[in-house]
Amino acid sequence: MKKKELGQLLGRMTVAEKVGQLLQLAPMFYKGTITKGEITGPMAEMGITAEISERAGSVLGSATAIEMIAIQEAYLETNRLGIPLIFMADVVHGYKTIFPIPLAIGATWDVEAAEKMAAVSAKEATAAGLQVTFSPMVDLVRDPRWGRVMESTGEDPHLNSEFAASFVRGYQGDPELLSENYEKMAACVKHFAAYGAAEAGREYNTVDMSTRELYQNYLPAYVAALEAGSKLVMTAFNVVDGVPATGNEWLMRDVLRDELGFDGVLISDWGAVKEIINHGTAADSAEAAEQALRAGVDIEMMTTCYLENLEGMIADGTADVALVDEAVMRILELKNDVGLFEDPYRGLKGKQDRQTDILSAEHRDSAREIAADAMVLLKNVDGLLPLAVDTKIALVGPLAKTQDVLGAWSWLGDKEDAISVHDGMAKQFTQVDVAGAADTENVTEAEIAEMVRVAKDADVIVLALGESADRSGEANSIATIRLPETQYAMIEAIRAVGKPVVTVLFNGRPLDLHGLIEASDALVEAWFPGTEAGNAVADILAGRVNPNGKLPMSFPYTTGQIPVYYNHLNTGRPVDAADAQEHYVSQYIDIPNQPLFDFGFGLSYTTFAYTDLKISSDIITKSDTLTISVTVTNTGEVAGKEVVALYLQDLVGKVSRPRKELKRFSKIDLAPGEARVVTFCLTEEDLRYYKPNLDFTSDPGDFKLFIGADLEATFCLV
Ligand code: GLC
Repeated sequence: MKKKELGQLLGRMTVAEKVGQLLQLAPMFYKGTITKGEITGPMAEMGITAEISERAGSVLGSATAIEMIAIQEAYLETNRLGIPLIFMADVVHGYKTIFPIPLAIGATWDVEAAEKMAAVSAKEATAAGLQVTFSPMVDLVRDPRWGRVMESTGEDPHLNSEFAASFVRGYQGDPELLSENYEKMAACVKHFAAYGAAEAGREYNTVDMSTRELYQNYLPAYVAALEAGSKLVMTAFNVVDGVPATGNEWLMRDVLRDELGFDGVLISDWGAVKEIINHGTAADSAEAAEQALRAGVDIEMMTTCYLENLEGMIADGTADVALVDEAVMRILELKNDVGLFEDPYRGLKGKQDRQTDILSAEHRDSAREIAADAMVLLKNVDGLLPLAVDTKIALVGPLAKTQDVLGAWSWLGDKEDAISVHDGMAKQFTQVDVAGAADTENVTEAEIAEMVRVAKDADVIVLALGESADRSGEANSIATIRLPETQYAMIEAIRAVGKPVVTVLFNGRPLDLHGLIEASDALVEAWFPGTEAGNAVADILAGRVNPNGKLPMSFPYTTGQIPVYYNHLNTGRPVDAADAQEHYVSQYIDIPNQPLFDFGFGLSYTTFAYTDLKISSDIITKSDTLTISVTVTNTGEVAGKEVVALYLQDLVGKVSRPRKELKRFSKIDLAPGEARVVTFCLTEEDLRYYKPNLDFTSDPGDFKLFIGADLEATFCLV
């Protein structure tokens, strides 16, 4: 439909119909529904009548094509102007084929992998009748106590930005062709803004930072997603500078729409409009509605402040109907952009051919490859890994047999489709005895005794342990980043057997690995690998895949060290290795300043050498491009992928600058003995940073460049 026609359609709508378009409901409220939908927030009594649901504009959390068709058919029978519903859901790391959690995808340092994950997700989700995904979540996170860290790609603004754009590209393809490419869907970047900075990692907690910090570290990934064309933005639950994001005119009008140029649909998070009342900046739902409308929130998800108040407020002049028209127009444009006015079923009605896309062997293969590439080898004493396929293995622990390996936000994935570690290893190793445990939170003495019995007969013990999937994700913050306590007795008992121990860790967040790292001869960070978990683990342990993941987030030494992140400031009293005796420096007296494992850390089964460092000049001006190149050689016996990263240090700025900032990275695949020249280009723009007055400019001065695999193993160019 042409924009002019949309304007004419808007002109035919009553105020009641306009206000209805601003409401988003779960499937349960619609005729034809098959499921309740995905309930991801509080469910208050909403007073939704059939008349209201016949006016509502969108659905969140529908599950299948059959359900979408049934709801859409029933809806269009009664909707006076034939304006179709648009169906949205959280397809965050897969629809039915579940990929590794986004934090694991961040560990791949492979933006093509992220784009592939999103493209497969969109292919399956659109076959299931969805047209919008509430993804990517690009909140920067420095606190692993926060459960939704699993949904992020970690602590770095540049890495997050690269992934944000690649997720959007994978979901949407060419945004201009969304109306005809039914295998693509609209992306919704979230949560605007800075939700990942919840104080103390406590879910939904206060966020408070300088505006300069917001711009410097927390906004870049949203900007990258918008520049990639994300069609929607979702508001954050938290305040920004004391004002709830969902009612924050400065954040949503001045920054998001005016400064960043976003003219798409802004949707509230679940209940976030009404929660403005809880924040204490609205006395009632009318004030909450007014603040959200002024802020430019177009869709109210699962609360009815708009529905209850806007008609009356327009009638008595306390709400400007032009703001409602603006919101409705953006919603109509979104529906038009995904082709719903041409085909409200996007090619699915009366056809089942697309269903074969779902959980196809090809999709499983993609998930398996990305899951293996996301795994990070944290320890491998004496090259214990990889294991020969005829090694006599005792596979023990609470994650040995379970299919609870999909991770949070995998709501339409079925655990029954998942490959357990045991299933995967039994296919690649000839002698695997297994002794599992029923519950990660409560490993019993009897289960430990059986694990020890099996372990005593083995050459190598593979200990599969970690968190359950519901120990991270939304509303699952923890105060102490350790394993469930009952697992430590198991670790001790297994260590006491005296055989080599390979630990495979399943977790949705960085953890304090003390008590585990010492008991492991090798440790593989597996995260939550998704549907193909067991095959990916076996691929790594058997050496079919050479581990190549790098941590996208620091692993704290202990909870008390949080927040700990690599791009920290120097402080006025940095610890100076040359003067280790100086007491009055920025340090703890009981633990080191360094995290247990640094951002960017990850081992390999091979080794790489960096030589022939070259830089095109040691001075650049505004018009120059600086070229930095290095030769990377695989000096080992097996092929391997290597992440080559370029970090920058601005030695003197108008504000204190981080000791290192990631500026570029590239992942290369090298055969044994193969060498590759990796080249990066920097310009003056890469030297810019935010000043206290928010000018984004560079200063003349000296800089250090570091190039290498991780923070320590880097060459330094002054
Ligand atoms: C949840 C989450 C948000 C999700 C939405 C819909 O509360 O905060 O990320 O997209 O509700 O499920």
